[in-house]
Amino acid sequence: MLLGMSSILSLRNIKKTYRDSEVPVEVLHNVDIDLEKGRITAIVGPSGAGKSTLLHIMGLLDKPDNGEIIYKDYPIMKMDDDGLSEIRNREFGFVFQFHHLLPEFNAIENVMLPLLIQGISRNIAAERGRELLNELGVVSRERHKPAQLSGGERQRVAIARALITEPSIVFADEPTGNLDRKTSQNVMEILINILNEKNISFAIVTHNRLIEKYADKTVYLIDGKVENQYDISIDNET
Ligand SMILES: Nc1ncnc2c1ncn2[C@@H]1O[C@H](COP(=O)(O)OP(=O)(O)OP(=O)(O)O)[C@@H](O)[C@H]1O
Ligand SMILES: [Mg+2]
Repeated sequence: MLLGMSSILSLRNIKKTYRDSEVPVEVLHNVDIDLEKGRITAIVGPSGAGKSTLLHIMGLLDKPDNGEIIYKDYPIMKMDDDGLSEIRNREFGFVFQFHHLLPEFNAIENVMLPLLIQGISRNIAAERGRELLNELGVVSRERHKPAQLSGGERQRVAIARALITEPSIVFADEPTGNLDRKTSQNVMEILINILNEKNISFAIVTHNRLIEKYADKTVYLIDGKVENQYDISIDNET
């Protein structure tokens, strides 16, 4: 074992079959995966391999048919839906390929929303939101609505919204998938700096091989199976 490595989220023996289509689709076959505290795990693999499905299960947005999920040493498969949403809303942050910002609200309002839902005052929410927009370099656009922002600006606002609750894990599915290479790299670098600084764990699904250079661990998912887990920190020690 590596010094200082501890798993914040562990999935064991995860199976998932979609049954809503005419023919059931077996997507995940006995997947094991660990997210280390404060580390970056990249999940890569071909289209249709089950990466988004796995990320949704890790983020408690979807349930597996089988398997164990341990969060902070606590087996959470036995929890009810309220308990699961509580963990999801308070401890997890999400960034998707398409930002899912609310079109009728401006940038700062979108970022504040998760805190307002938690009952935190507008003043505190606005202050924290502004701080994050500033760190992400988009505070000058705080009054702009999503349609008045560039793609990269929108993703940075979506990242601020994911970070405002001070999550312990951020899950991202192709967060820069619709951005050009340079903007994508810029957004990723800002995000990774903030995550490192705040010691937030990060699970990112990506097709972008560039992301692997930032990752502490890369998990290759092929046909719903983990083919290989390549741990860069282990490699560096040997
Ligand atoms: N709701 C659903 N019902 C039935 N099948 C589904 C459903 N969602 C996904 N699938 C199937 O499950 C498989 C895995 O999908 P998933 O979205 O996890 O792949 P992915 O690795 O994220 O692919 P991509 O890189 O293209 O995003 C695919 O074959 C897909 O067609
Ligand atoms: Mg996907």
